[in-house]
Amino acid sequence: MELMSIENLRVRFPSPAGTVFAVNGVSLSVDKGEILGIVGESGSGKSVTCQSLMGLLGPRARTSGRVRYGAHSVEIGEMVALRRRGGFPAAMIFQDAVAGLNPLRTVGSQIAEVFTFGRGLSSGEARRRTIELLASVGIRDPEQRFTAYPHQMSGGMNQRITIAMALAASPELLIADEPTTALDVTVQAQICALLRRLVDETGLSVIFISHDLDLVTEFCDRVAVMYAGALVELGTSRTLRKRARHPYTHALFSAIPGHHPALAQLEEIPGEIMVNTVEPTACGFAPRCPRRQERCGIEVPPLERRTDERLACFNPY
Ligand SMILES: Nc1ncnc2c1ncn2[C@@H]1O[C@H](COP(=O)(O)OP(=O)(O)O)[C@@H](O)[C@H]1O
Ligand SMILES: [Mg+2]
Repeated sequence: MELMSIENLRVRFPSPAGTVFAVNGVSLSVDKGEILGIVGESGSGKSVTCQSLMGLLGPRARTSGRVRYGAHSVEIGEMVALRRRGGFPAAMIFQDAVAGLNPLRTVGSQIAEVFTFGRGLSSGEARRRTIELLASVGIRDPEQRFTAYPHQMSGGMNQRITIAMALAASPELLIADEPTTALDVTVQAQICALLRRLVDETGLSVIFISHDLDLVTEFCDRVAVMYAGALVELGTSRTLRKRARHPYTHALFSAIPGHHPALAQLEEIPGEIMVNTVEPTACGFAPRCPRRQERCGIEVPPLERRTDERLACFNPY
């Protein structure tokens, strides 16, 4: 069952170097109790897509598109107001966990505040709920940890703390923007397992942003692949692993060590890197695409939809 959907999201930013076309017509949906991955290289518009949902873009952004959520259907520009009146219970966590925490206050008091100020609980009740939450995100000795400061904990522990803080607000959607990118592989796996457990236990929905296609197709239910501000392919992890159809998705898989050892690195997808200061009039991946045809350079491929899949390509695999 669908939790929310975005329809034809466009975001551009005026800048001294010209307009940045950051997101160019992205449509996707998230189901209840689903983990949706969004993958793509740096600058492809993953963060901006999610910041639009959270009403975090700032006044300079020019946006269009609609968000549907329960009985609400609003212009993307109205997300700030919708969130303010509690109509869109979503929370976001980021790559740099420590930056999201106050270094001068204990982690427990920062989480407890969400319960007292945000939800009107007494301080005793807030403390009890905080300790419960700390335990549920896998913090050992939660009573002792309540009084710890962020600098006394590891990166992985701090990311667990920001997850606990996000959950304290009882969101239905958690947006995690590269939450494991700064962590080593073992801790990354633990955080992913934690998110999966929370989804299974509570029916929470998660959007998980990453530049690592291998990670997201291991861990997420469905994956959206973005290139140069466009959604180029979306499918279940299983389908993508078995039969990726967009040449960019293919190239990303080939770039993963272990899949095709000869092409070990993402940077080795040949061709020009993406440019996003001109309005797209063609497939953004065409300059690097081994399956490019004439029309790929002069027309934007439309996003075709099937039940669980999306594809924007004139000459897919
Ligand atoms: N506030 C902003 N002002 C101007 N340009 C921005 C702003 N935020 C993001 N961008 C640009 O939008 C594009 C997409 O950025 P982003 O969504 O952060 O990429 P990703 O998260 O996929 O790495 C990039 O070219 C980035 O420089
Ligand atoms: Mg980003």
